[in-house]
Amino acid sequence: MTLQMRVYVPDHPLIKHWLTIARDAYTPSALFKTAMKELGCLLTYEATRYWFPMREIQVQTPLAECPATIINPEVPLAVIPILRAGLALLEGAQSLLLSPLVSIYHLGLVRDETTLEASFYLNKLPEKFQPDTRILLLDPMLATGGTMLEAMAALTSRGADPALMRIVSVVTAPPALKKLSEQYPSLNIYTAIIDEGLNSKGYIVPGLGDAGDRTFGT
Ligand code: URA
Repeated sequence: MTLQMRVYVPDHPLIKHWLTIARDAYTPSALFKTAMKELGCLLTYEATRYWFPMREIQVQTPLAECPATIINPEVPLAVIPILRAGLALLEGAQSLLLSPLVSIYHLGLVRDETTLEASFYLNKLPEKFQPDTRILLLDPMLATGGTMLEAMAALTSRGADPALMRIVSVVTAPPALKKLSEQYPSLNIYTAIIDEGLNSKGYIVPGLGDAGDRTFGT
């Protein structure tokens, strides 16, 4: 049996609602930011369902001892927002992730407007990841896939296992999904929608425009 990358599009009314707000060209920047925060939270909720490492314990209630389950604090958890636009999802994602347990590493990548090639301007990754580290990658738009492929190469060269990663992205497009599935068949992606394709400038159509510009209003 060959392994195939999985792309999940959770069927949730709140995800559909906030996606519509984000898509609307007349949504002001402050509301766009709220939509990204909500989508960051809702998609992270879905993405972490089978991602957290769990541990069985016994707990003493006021009445009796009983079996219980907690998140295993010994397994490292990492969240990686891809700047700039990934920051828009971080606030919502963080509201679900238990902060003392989760490390946040920032990656900054910029796309060349003509070649569409992505390159790093910031890399705060550790030199090495422990092999069992769970990684959540945040980038609202997966268009050509160039940025995410660069990020994945940086992560895997530091020992991160793609099977233990979850990508959270608001809008995804077939070119990015094709490239990622060819190179990383064990990946899991959580997205609000898979759109039709890209325009000649590498923007997703219909998409929602430039997620970084719309979040920060610059
Ligand atoms: N990045 C964005 O912000 N929007 C797109 O449509 C593609 C890449």
